[in-house]
Amino acid sequence: MKRVDFDHYSQLSAAAAAMVAAVILENPAPVLGLATGSTPVGMYEELVRMHRSGVLDMAHVTTVNLDEYCGLSESHPQSYRCFMNRQLFSHVNIPLERTFVPNGMAADADAECARYDGLLSALGGADLQVLGLGHDGHIGFNEPAAAFTYPTHAVTLTEQTIQANARFFEGIEQQVPRKAITMGMGAIMLAKKILLLVSGGDKAAILAEALQGPVTPRIPASILQLRPNVTLLYSK
Ligand code: F6R
Repeated sequence: MKRVDFDHYSQLSAAAAAMVAAVILENPAPVLGLATGSTPVGMYEELVRMHRSGVLDMAHVTTVNLDEYCGLSESHPQSYRCFMNRQLFSHVNIPLERTFVPNGMAADADAECARYDGLLSALGGADLQVLGLGHDGHIGFNEPAAAFTYPTHAVTLTEQTIQANARFFEGIEQQVPRKAITMGMGAIMLAKKILLLVSGGDKAAILAEALQGPVTPRIPASILQLRPNVTLLYSK
């Protein structure tokens, strides 16, 4: 794993955007695995800037997002589809029909998971998968568990994750969905490159456990120790 430490979040964001831009520039039909949450927001802002300044044509990009809350429609401001439209898709020229996010409103969650895995296989996996890190060590919404889950699956979020995400729901904890659909470890581990973004001293301890402790599904991000081509960008 290559690790780069930055003094400022703005530097992490610029470096992350540069890595995403490189994948876009070097691949004729790049597939980007994308994350939501606070950490990649600065990276998306940088990508939008690059696009607006004419540096980055994104017309041939396909995106697959890691996860989506169950029960939130695409138009709900806190749905991850809405987040992606707001932060990136509505500002760049990725064809919207080439942007994929699990459907959290699917009546049959298992069928939706199977559909998403079919899509991921058809795309041949991501050229670059962007990941954030949860305070409990999750990546995507692969929460601590007794075993790693490889396919896309529906999960019950941990109390820690619900509390952490309550900030986006104006503190009204009751409104935070309890369930989500997430890409499993299979698609994450099959990405050609992985870009792990971690910002905040409050994540230093779980990051150290994930990178230096045993590989265990109790700390889901620890699985990243098993593969090459992971770049970690960290800022306090
Ligand atoms: C989001 C996702 C999550 C977040 C993680 C960190 O799509 O998959 O794993 O990356 O919860 O979230 P932030 O960046 O808000 O601290």
